[in-house]
This record gives sequence, structure tokens and C-alpha cells, in this order.
Amino acid sequence: MIKRVTTHEIRSMKTRGELIPMLTAYDFTSAAIAERAGVPLVLVGDSFGHVVLGYSSTIPVTLDDMVLATAAVVRGTQKAMVVADMPFMTYQESPEQAMRSAARLMQVGGAHAVKLEGGSGIATTVRKLTESGIAVMGHIGFTPQSINQIGGYRVQGKDEKSSAKLLNDARALEHAGCFAIVLELVPAEVAGAITTGLSIPTIGIGAGPACDGQVQVWHDLLGLLPDFKPRHARRYAELATIIQEAVSKYVADVKSKAFPSEAESFHLPSDQPQVVPGSAGVQRNGRTPVISPAMPGAWTPERIRTLRETLRMTQLEMSGRVGVAKNNLSAWERGRKHPSLRHQGILDTLAREAGLQPK
Ligand code: KIV
Repeated sequence: MIKRVTTHEIRSMKTRGELIPMLTAYDFTSAAIAERAGVPLVLVGDSFGHVVLGYSSTIPVTLDDMVLATAAVVRGTQKAMVVADMPFMTYQESPEQAMRSAARLMQVGGAHAVKLEGGSGIATTVRKLTESGIAVMGHIGFTPQSINQIGGYRVQGKDEKSSAKLLNDARALEHAGCFAIVLELVPAEVAGAITTGLSIPTIGIGAGPACDGQVQVWHDLLGLLPDFKPRHARRYAELATIIQEAVSKYVADVKSKAFPSEAESFHLPSDQPQVVPGSAGVQRNGRTPVISPAMPGAWTPERIRTLRETLRMTQLEMSGRVGVAKNNLSAWERGRKHPSLRHQGILDTLAREAGLQPK
């Protein structure tokens, strides 16, 4: 059985001086890719609200949203430790509320740890959680759930007083039992001092290279939001461009009938009696014909031929319009094969264009 990364392993990475790469994921597929790429710590961040749900902040994200995303991420991973963000107002009220919220993220979502925003003010809550056996990651510096109170995306701890408070907060969280702390938008020097001052790992985002690990948002790392490029993020790919090009090709292929091809289509088995809805069924391989009840508007061989003649087309021209091989069209006209429901729909459209009466 594959073993999950544990809090013990994350802590010993710091002791060994091994840097910790952490990345967000919000669904099964991206979590599986992240794990295959060697990410030991996956964060189901409430940035989900921004990058997946399209909110302008993380405040509207609910516990149900996070449970759903967490469960998908856990299903996509076997080895990585999955940390789930506790969303706005699901832990601030009381330690008891925090316990209930964490329990849902773990019991329903399957999270292995939870992350809370805040410093010494939430230390009592963190202690209650950790004493109950819950693995907790702290998050200080810029805390997005407090954006309205902070007044914008600002680097925190830039003066002596606020940097001392950050160090105090980090220590309080360590004492309360956190196994790691995220430092967001903190001057590199301050993050370095906090990292040295703690025995648990710091994971930075916009906090410089001295942290014990780094965390990035999936969409930022992969260039999925072309118009959003935070200074702290590095784009390792321009996936929005690549995806858009691929989707444009698909749109063009559908419109030109280049998709689907014969290889991407399915047919009735050739060694069985063929009863095609809406047409006279003919058993293949020279056996006794099987007659199916004709449906209204059925495309009989005569009708297909009449349509083609009305359109003044050769078999080759008409097979191009319908999107089949010329041999198939010829077989339809001889009653050897019958158009699929999809092709009957195309024939209906051509008949309307030619002004033929519906049957
Ligand atoms: O929600 C999130 O993605 C986060 C990271 C930015 C640390 O909290």
C-alpha cells in the first residue's frame, strides 16, 4: 500500500534542510498531475473561490464548496498530504465551531490537515484542534479572508512593530501545535527571521527564498489566467494560450466535419441482423431480410436517390455534404446499408434546403 506523506515527514524535511514544494489543486485531475510531478503537500486553498468559482475574493467560499473540492483532490492522490483551507467564518466564532468545520473537511472531504488564517488570536482554537488530533497548518502575513479589514493586497510586516507581531504570531501558532505555517506577502528578511526562529517549517508565498518551502496557486503557475499575474508567481507554462488554440481547432473541425472521423465513430456489428430505426432493415451477409417498421420520414433508398437528383449532385458530392464515404451513400441508394439517425438528420436538413416535402 502506498503511504501518505505525514506531518512528521514534513517537519523532518525542515530538519534535513530539504525544501518543501506545495501547490494548490481543486479537482481530481490536477491533484493527480501534481502528485505525479512530485508535490508532497497539496493545498485545497480557498483561492478555489477566485480561480475556479470566479469570485473576487475568498469570502463567499463555503464549507460545502471546500468539502467538495477536497474530496476530489483526495481521490486524485495516493501519496500527497492534502491540506484543506477552512473558509471564512467557519472557525472564527469559537473553537467548537472550528472543531465541527474541521470534522466535516476530514470526515466528508477526507482532508489530512486543515489550514486556518490568523495569529495569536486563533491560538486557542488551534490548540483545541491539535489536542483533538487534527493536523493544523497556520497562515499569517497577508490573510486573504481579512482583505476588507486589511484594505487590499498588501505586503505585511514591513515595519518593526508589525514584523515583531508576525514573529510573535508564528511562535504562538507553533506553541499551539501547528505542524507548518504559511507566510504570505511578507518581506523576505522577516520571513527568513521567522523561519530561523521556528522549529516547524514555513511555507512562503511572496515571502522570499529563505522559507522552508514554497506554495503557489495552480492557475498562476500554469498561466491559466492570462490577465492575472501576481508579482510573487512564476509562470512555468502558458496553458491558457495552448488550451484556447486546441479548442479553436476542435470548433473548426466540428464545423468542417473533420471531426469525428471514421476512426472516431461506431457502427452496427456487421455479422448480425441489422434493424435500423426508420428504414427497411436488411440483414447483411446475404441472409433473409429483416424488415423494420418504417418510421415517419424514413430515408428509403428511393428517397435518398430522389434527394440527390433534386440537388443535382453526384454521389461523391452528396457524400461530402452528408459526411460519409461515397461507398456508403451508394450502399444507401441500393438498400444495402441505412443511414444512421445522425445522417438521417443531415438528410432531413438537405431535404429542407431542396424544398422536398417531409414524408
Ligand atoms: O487559498 C490559497 O490558495 C492559499 C495560498 C495562497 C497559500 O491560502
